[in-house]
Amino acid sequence: MINHAQAAGHHEPVPPNLRGLACRALGVLPGAARFELYEPFGAEGPSAYVATHTATMRSVLVMSLGAETHAWYLPHPSVRPGHGLLMLPFIRVTPGSRVLDLGCGPFGLHGVFSKNLGAGHVVCSDIDASFVAHVAALTEQRSAIHTIEADLLCDGARGRFALVTFHPPVLPTGCDEVDVPRGHALCYHFGGPRGRTVLDRGIAQIAERLVPRGVAVIGHFEFLGGEQRFGTDPTTAERLAKAGMVVEEIYHRRVAMTPVLKDRLLLLRKLFPGYDFEDRGATTWHRFSIVVARRRGRLALRRPTSSIPLV
Ligand SMILES: C[S@@+](CC[C@H](N)C(=O)[O-])C[C@H]1O[C@@H](n2cnc3c(N)ncnc32)[C@H](O)[C@@H]1O
Repeated sequence: MINHAQAAGHHEPVPPNLRGLACRALGVLPGAARFELYEPFGAEGPSAYVATHTATMRSVLVMSLGAETHAWYLPHPSVRPGHGLLMLPFIRVTPGSRVLDLGCGPFGLHGVFSKNLGAGHVVCSDIDASFVAHVAALTEQRSAIHTIEADLLCDGARGRFALVTFHPPVLPTGCDEVDVPRGHALCYHFGGPRGRTVLDRGIAQIAERLVPRGVAVIGHFEFLGGEQRFGTDPTTAERLAKAGMVVEEIYHRRVAMTPVLKDRLLLLRKLFPGYDFEDRGATTWHRFSIVVARRRGRLALRRPTSSIPLV
């Protein structure tokens, strides 16, 4: 259903704290769980483990981030996060605050993470009914996670939020509709003819639903244009400014193209002629951008933005 990079081969023992966390989450003794390293961005990216209880095939993804450990129940051992993992270090939660994970995917990656960081009330929302049903079932025990099936914020979550995380589908469909997958894959990966349809609609809606000085953490491929334009569309920074938000920081992570992107490389080169897709042998590299933006408020000051590549 979802194309994820494969986990690399690994022979190191699982860190005891993650082994313990996974077994407690699964409610099993250590010997009853099989562990697999999950490093979708290679050894320099985040490392996670998928632990599966072999008798029931119930699975949990565990990882360390700084001093904290985190766990997510998975609807199936093969359903794992992709680029959304790269956003986790930039999600900062004020204890007790309201958080919205918009387009939360099949297990509420950012919503569950925010709850773990101390959010008071979390809404996980997605247009895909089966994802919402999975998240509802997997987070049953966490009474302060609410799930909503909605097209972005239309008829969805009520009230205002201190933080919204948003990792929308951003692959362009171009004109080549025949090749566009249907169902889950269409919704998961594709963001309209030029890739920005869901992203730009989302930005306008998020701005209206953040508290003054509230923060949005937005993830998308760099070629769409965070602050710099690589095609003809307005950038994310321009869209945010129009909606009353300011970009505080932009971070970039170098990533290898996944097969679903590589299949559309010709179209991407045509739509984003200013972008340097970096071919190295069989691999094409590009970057994933994490945009941290703040809704203007009484004390809003524009801080200098940083586009300095961190990797
Ligand atoms: C790239 S995935 C990100 C999933 C998850 N947030 C993560 O980071 O792993 C995009 C998600 O947005 C959802 N989505 C697509 N269009 C949407 C819309 N109009 N409203 C709400 N969710 C949408 C998809 O179903 C999918 O779960």
